[in-house]
Amino acid sequence: MIESERVSECTKRRLEKRPLASGAVSHLSGCRSTPSRSAAASQALTGGSGSATDGELLRVNCSSAATTAAASSSEAPGATIVSLGRRFIELPRVSCRAVAELSVLDHEAVLAAVSPELAIEHVRQALLRHHEGVWEMPAKVYLDSPPHGDFRAMPARGDGLALLKWITSFPGNPERGLPTVMGVVCLSDAVTGAPLMLLDARSVTALRTGAVAAVASAALAAPNARTLGIVGCGLHGTWVARCLLAAGFGPGVCFDLDRAAAERLAAELGHGWRAGSLEEAVAQEIVSCVTPGAEVVIEARDLHPGVHLNMLGADARGKAEATIEAVTACSLYCDEWEQASHGGELTGAIDAGLVSRAQVTELGAVLAGDAAGRADRRSLTLFDSTGLAIQDLAIARAALAAWREGQVSAQTINL
Ligand SMILES: NC(=O)c1ccc[n+]([C@@H]2O[C@H](COP(=O)([O-])OP(=O)(O)OC[C@H]3O[C@@H](n4cnc5c(N)ncnc54)[C@H](O)[C@@H]3O)[C@@H](O)[C@H]2O)c1
Repeated sequence: MIESERVSECTKRRLEKRPLASGAVSHLSGCRSTPSRSAAASQALTGGSGSATDGELLRVNCSSAATTAAASSSEAPGATIVSLGRRFIELPRVSCRAVAELSVLDHEAVLAAVSPELAIEHVRQALLRHHEGVWEMPAKVYLDSPPHGDFRAMPARGDGLALLKWITSFPGNPERGLPTVMGVVCLSDAVTGAPLMLLDARSVTALRTGAVAAVASAALAAPNARTLGIVGCGLHGTWVARCLLAAGFGPGVCFDLDRAAAERLAAELGHGWRAGSLEEAVAQEIVSCVTPGAEVVIEARDLHPGVHLNMLGADARGKAEATIEAVTACSLYCDEWEQASHGGELTGAIDAGLVSRAQVTELGAVLAGDAAGRADRRSLTLFDSTGLAIQDLAIARAALAAWREGQVSAQTINL
């Protein structure tokens, strides 16, 4: 088995075999780099050559493609040292630098780079670009990790950038003192494929989730609708409220099973906001639900003329925050049909055969003027947010621009 503590930047490399010097220990047990960063970056072992056998030494070579791609391909001093049991050998020195320093934006840096106002505008643009077919987004892939939760892989491409978000939903995590949602975003150059930046996925997700609630409310709520109900005042409920506030909505009522969470959020949001009951929250003009989706918080009897609902908590199969009767009583909108029909608030009604594709309008179509928004002031509208990778790309793109303009600083790493 090969273990390497270090991964080379060389994007294409081969492992060639040659006999071990007699007496050499045949098992590669580790790999460490010298203090020279450039040297360490220039070469290393890749694991997984299943053909590596006892009695063989692995030699690393760069492919010509990788060597050509290396921007600064001069051979560097120093070397990567590989341990062979109790002995150490120096690997042949080959420059194969493919990735320059990679910037890393942590949680605070992302939030410093992208304000709620900026997030709202970028997410609005992303929905439009996706509707126009300019931004690409395959459906997100779920990887269950029962009974703990699930991982999601979310790719998107647009405006010369490509992104992959690798993120969790582990509902039991708060009991362990950990966030429900954690992960990392990798932003790449869509022309060369080179990784450009790693970003904390929690902050990206929080901003884009709050932002889409603001975009949907502006597009779908009744004219002059301002009062807000926030149902579920955890991480994403908080960011939904912050973004709605930034878009000029509010004040309103915060409700959470955890009264302290509702009070905290109301206090943060300020004048006119208060913690209240579920009934008071759902009586507002715009109601945003951001609970874990384990139990219903909106019933048909809660719907009052003109209400607009943002349903954000049900972002995977099996979750729902509204009854099917409540869903089917509304004019229906979603972020993206494919995701919403398989793992969103609409899924229950669709599975029951009560809602079809023709009855659901994507938000991007409304923003583009290609589909109608609410019919009149008394209509009931429901927006199903499942969370799109293009929203993440919108935030990551804004963060990259802010960093390039020197508005925030990033940590750097070498791959
Ligand atoms: N649509 C999206 O794009 C999107 C993005 C991120 C998260 N989510 C989903 O949003 C949900 C919330 O995520 P979070 O990170 O904010 O979780 P969280 O644990 O931080 O917050 C959830 C809050 O809901 C409260 N709550 C639970 N049941 C409730 C109920 N019946 N009534 C009122 N309040 C209730 C909890 O007390 C908690 O404060 C999750 O299901 C998550 O998967 C959706």
